[in-house]
Amino acid sequence: MKAIKPAGGPEAVSQAAAIISGGGIAAFPTETVYGLGADAFNPTAVSGVYAAKGRPGDNPLIMHVANPEKFFELTHNPPPYSRALIEAFWPGPLTIVAEKNPSLPAWVGGHPQGTADTAGIRMPSHPLALALIEASGCIVAAPSANLAGTPSPTLAEHVAGDFVNGEIDFILDGGAVPGGLESTVVDVTGPEPVILRPGAITVEMIAEAIGLITHGPDMSMNAENSTSCTTKTTKKTEPTAPPRSPGMKYRHYAPKAPMTLLIGSENGIAAYVQTQCINAQNQRVGILLTEETEAILRQNLPASPSFQFITLGIKTSIETIAQNLYAALRKFDAIGVDVIYAEGTAQDGLGIAIMDRMRKAAEGRIIHLPE
Ligand code: TXA
Ligand code: MG
Repeated sequence: MKAIKPAGGPEAVSQAAAIISGGGIAAFPTETVYGLGADAFNPTAVSGVYAAKGRPGDNPLIMHVANPEKFFELTHNPPPYSRALIEAFWPGPLTIVAEKNPSLPAWVGGHPQGTADTAGIRMPSHPLALALIEASGCIVAAPSANLAGTPSPTLAEHVAGDFVNGEIDFILDGGAVPGGLESTVVDVTGPEPVILRPGAITVEMIAEAIGLITHGPDMSMNAENSTSCTTKTTKKTEPTAPPRSPGMKYRHYAPKAPMTLLIGSENGIAAYVQTQCINAQNQRVGILLTEETEAILRQNLPASPSFQFITLGIKTSIETIAQNLYAALRKFDAIGVDVIYAEGTAQDGLGIAIMDRMRKAAEGRIIHLPE
């Protein structure tokens, strides 16, 4: 057992940078979630990242840069609209997948024993991430800093709790991340961008910024289909089948207790959860609601240690809900509830990314309640 105590401050940035340039693995905060960073050109270090996470070798890693021009060094003939994406959204929570520069080692961007034809690249906006990447002098390959099977970490403590066996060398502590959900991943290998993973940069924002049809995420991996393509366009072509992100085919995090996702009005959801609690017998019920719905339920439900409330945040602050979601799911696991009822959000803007993660956590248990 080698538990790591997260370290903060400017000295910690230098320490983390030295670890990465020296071939080690350091976790660091970004504006989305914590990442597990290694020198993207060091095969031993990158293998270590795959091994630490228990990540399948065919799932590539995002390469993090501190300078947008690195995108053009790492890629081959990216379309002109990729520059528009970079100008609009970098630094920020957007990963751009483009054809890889063929002069790079064949494996770079993926597992050292494989080959990667494309490169997923992102320039984060978190000041500690940028300082670390800059100081390391490396392109930093970094998946989310969680073990496969746990939610992405939004606190340094989450990272420390996942890696307790000496798999990683350092945790740079930047406190709670501002975002809470992983970056939007957009594929630019075709004539129009295709979103592979929804995030804080939405399909509408991309279409608006670059004036091109933008294909929404393929939600067929989810229990429900919801997202459609935008219609905003300056140029029309036949719709193309969106390529799959390798990461989408793997089982995603679901809490230990079965979670049911509830979609409907505050009153409808409160009434449903009340009935479930009353019928729960000796089960411990995890209740993950907005403040508004929780207030209604609490008026009608006697307080009991069997009913464990975690508040998502106020309904109108979708950003707060995104920030709180993963920490809440980790907390229910720690408390040890038997079932979880979670309130869904609006299904537009950032709500698309939140609902994508919530649907995966619910593994198909979704109930629509009357208004
Ligand atoms: O916000 C984030 O993106 C965080 C922070 C640390 O930057 N990172 C993150 O990494 O979420 P990870 O590895 O957990 O998720 C990256 C996703 C995966 O679904 C992966 O398949 C996809 O991006 N991806 C990475 N490179 C790709 C590529 N070349 N082609 C297609 N998909 C790619
Ligand atoms: Mg991940």
